[in-house]
Amino acid sequence: MKEQLIESMKVVLADSFAFYLKAHQFHWNVEGPDFPQYHDFLSDLYEEVYGSVDRIAEQIRALGEYAPGSFSRFKELSSIADSTGAPTAGEMFNTLAGDNQIVLSTLMRTYKLAEEYSEIGLSNFLQDRYDAHKKHAWMISSILKRKQ
Ligand SMILES: [Fe+2]
Repeated sequence: MKEQLIESMKVVLADSFAFYLKAHQFHWNVEGPDFPQYHDFLSDLYEEVYGSVDRIAEQIRALGEYAPGSFSRFKELSSIADSTGAPTAGEMFNTLAGDNQIVLSTLMRTYKLAEEYSEIGLSNFLQDRYDAHKKHAWMISSILKRKQ
């Protein structure tokens, strides 16, 4: 049933929005001696992910389903936890590294379903999103790396 693919796409949308919102919040609240670099890096990060959200929702519409778009539905669908405190810069990047892994595994699961249902355009789109988040993983892990 294509239902499985549609449900998985809703999780892609919710995960991407949750990740975007957290990166944007961290952009606002990050502090420390490397503030200018962190602030700019987080700006690029949230903008890239935000730029995907509309296209994900439109892919859901193209599958014949309505796209979720409320905080309550996103919270139900995504396993990315809310951030409400005032984390340090290190904690922020650790959190984003973990959340980015959640996005990657959701994208991979959904890509496999798109292949299964021969949704080739969607499969191509999901490959591109996977690639973008692989790049985010590389950059975040490079920020977290301590000099020897
Ligand atoms: Fe800003």
